[in-house]
Amino acid sequence: MLNVSTRTAALYDRVRRVIPPIEWPTFADDIEAILDLKRQRNAVILAHNYQTPEIFHCVADIVGDSLALARKAMTAEADVIVLAGVHFMAETAKLLNPQKTVLIPDLRAGCSLADSITAEDIRLLRQRYPGVSVVTYVNTSADVKAESDICCTSGNAKAVVESLGVPRVIMLPDEYLAQNIAAQTDVQIIAWKGRCEVHERFTPADIRQLREDHPGVTVLAHPECPPEVVAEADFSGSTAAMSDYVGRQKPPRVVLMTECSMSDNVAVEHPEVEFIRPCNLCPHMKRITLANIREALEQNRHVVTIAPEIAGRARLAVERMLAV
Ligand code: 13P
Ligand code: SF4
Repeated sequence: MLNVSTRTAALYDRVRRVIPPIEWPTFADDIEAILDLKRQRNAVILAHNYQTPEIFHCVADIVGDSLALARKAMTAEADVIVLAGVHFMAETAKLLNPQKTVLIPDLRAGCSLADSITAEDIRLLRQRYPGVSVVTYVNTSADVKAESDICCTSGNAKAVVESLGVPRVIMLPDEYLAQNIAAQTDVQIIAWKGRCEVHERFTPADIRQLREDHPGVTVLAHPECPPEVVAEADFSGSTAAMSDYVGRQKPPRVVLMTECSMSDNVAVEHPEVEFIRPCNLCPHMKRITLANIREALEQNRHVVTIAPEIAGRARLAVERMLAV
C-alpha cells in the first residue's frame, strides 16, 4: 500500500516551488480526505486568490477574485459550495445560489471593510444625500447590500459607477477604492471611511525602497491601497487583474502590493518571474485551513443563511452588478 505522500505526489508537483517538501506530509492527509469528501457530497470549493497554495492549487475547483467567484458561484453544478475565503464571499455565493448549501469553514473569517458599515449607516446617508445612488463594494454584509442600489468589486468599480449615467454617486465602504476610482472618472464620488486593514498599511516610501533595493522591479498595487501608493505603482487592479498582468507582461521582477498568499499562488504559474515578497497577511483569510475545510465537509458546517427579507433585496444589488 502506497503512503499518502506518494499517492499525492502529483499534487505536490504543482506547488513544490512554494511549499517545502518537509511541510507536505502535514497537508497530504487532509487533501486526500477533502478530495474524497467532495465526491461523496457533490461539493465544490471556491477559493479566493488570497488562500494559501495548498488550498488554492490542491483542493479548490474554482479560484479567482471576488468578481470571478461571484460569477462562477452562479453556474456551480453542485449540491454544496464551500467558500474558502471570507464571510461576505460566502454570503454572496448564497445569495446567488439560494437552493444550495453554502458552507464557510470558520465563521470568524470577517473583513475590516465589511465591519466598517451597517445598514443603518446607509439609511442615514440616503437621508443626507436624497436621490443619490448607492454603489456598494461586495466586501459588505448582506444587510448592507440590501440597502444598496448596486454592488461592485475592485474589478468592475469604474464600469459600475459609470453604468448608472448619473453625475454623483455614494460609493462605500472603502475610502481608498472610492478615491482611486474618483481619479479615473468624471462621476463625483461621495466616499465612506472604511479601510482594508491589509492594504492601508502600504506606503509610497515602501515602493521607493523596493525600487532602490530591487532595480527594475515592476510594482503592482491593489486599488484598496492608499491613492499615493497606487500613484507610485506601475499598474493597479483587482487580484485577478494583477495575476493577468503577470501572465501577459511577464515582468522579470515583480512585487504585488497586496496579501501574502497572492504572490505564492501566481508564482506557481510563472517560474520565470522573480517575485519580491514584502506583503501583509489578512488574518481573516488565514482563518481558513485544510483542516477546517475538511471539518466543514464532514460536519456540514457552518451553514450560511440569510433572512429572506434581506436576501431578496441584496440579491438584486448583486445581480445588477453582474448585468453590467
Ligand atoms: P479582489 O479579489 O476582488 O481584488 O478583492 C480583494 C480583496 O481584498 C478581497 O477581500
Ligand atoms: Fe477584507 Fe482586506 Fe482581508 Fe480582503 S484583505 S478580506 S478587504 S481585510
